[in-house]
Amino acid sequence: MINRICCIYFSPTGNTKKLAHVAAEYVAKECNLPLYETDFTKLDNRLEKYEFGPEDFVILAVPTYAGKLPNKILPDLKEKLQGNNTPAAAMVTFGNRSFDNSLAELIQVLKEDGFCPSGGAAFVCQHAFTQVLAAGRPRENDLAQAGDFVLKCFNLAKDEDFLRESAGLQVEGDADAPYYVPKGTDGQPAKFLKAKPKTDMDRCTNCGLCADLCPMASINPQDITDVSGICIKCHACVNGCPEGAKYFDDKAFLSHVAMLEQNFTDEKDNRFFYLKQDI
Ligand SMILES: Cc1cc2nc3c(=O)[nH]c(=O)nc-3n(C[C@H](O)[C@H](O)[C@H](O)COP(=O)(O)O)c2cc1C
Ligand code: SF4
Ligand code: SF4
Repeated sequence: MINRICCIYFSPTGNTKKLAHVAAEYVAKECNLPLYETDFTKLDNRLEKYEFGPEDFVILAVPTYAGKLPNKILPDLKEKLQGNNTPAAAMVTFGNRSFDNSLAELIQVLKEDGFCPSGGAAFVCQHAFTQVLAAGRPRENDLAQAGDFVLKCFNLAKDEDFLRESAGLQVEGDADAPYYVPKGTDGQPAKFLKAKPKTDMDRCTNCGLCADLCPMASINPQDITDVSGICIKCHACVNGCPEGAKYFDDKAFLSHVAMLEQNFTDEKDNRFFYLKQDI
């Protein structure tokens, strides 16, 4: 008997959080169950270990990075979350290019961690790199679809045959496929692995928010122009700075963004996959 809803998300620019939070609240209310949320974006929260049992229903939501799960977060997803025949719903978001293999990878991670996913979904969201792709998404309709998706997953998990059948969930993509290689406008690989955000000191008020927001704790709070750790290009600092003072000027990165803006403006649909189709 499921007795609580647990929602976990990694969400540097907030889209994934919005979808997962709204869906989790909806299902908790519909089912009259308590809701527990964990923001896996914060490094501190990723240092702890989280264990779940068969009475929990877990919603795990992660954005697509380079066609898969964010590679620097993957070890935490694998090591810090432990299920025990725990029913789950898998959600990925993507910025209107493609979710490629991220949902398949998330399902694989969940299964290996002891969870039993009854469904997986990929949601189109505004791209962290640019407002030109899927601007304003998730919108009301996306949020409604997310609630409907999680409720269906929850109801599937109540079926008495669920645990026996749960290994059978199939989604689009290949969990073991390589990462997507970003291209520039010339069609060649755009190499920006080492790029880091710059700061416009004419705009910066030294409020320190960017250092707080960085999921890698890579921005020095004593000197926010100093990005000493790993930068995963998540754009939490760029999109979250209230003064618009953070920016990337790496040529290869900007060429990749221009390529995305040229080729991926036609809005895609959200995609849903369930253990059983007749629901
Ligand atoms: C480093 C990075 C890589 C990304 N790679 C992809 C991708 O391969 N395909 C895609 O459609 N969107 C991609 N996106 C867009 C994100 O998946 C999208 O903006 C997502 O909603 C971000 O989630 P958040 O708002 O919860 O941080 C990428 C974004 C970042 C920051
Ligand atoms: S969030 Fe923006 S204004 Fe605040 S310290 Fe960072 S760069 Fe400066
Ligand atoms: S410094 Fe890099 S990793 Fe940190 S918030 Fe900014 S873009 Fe993300």
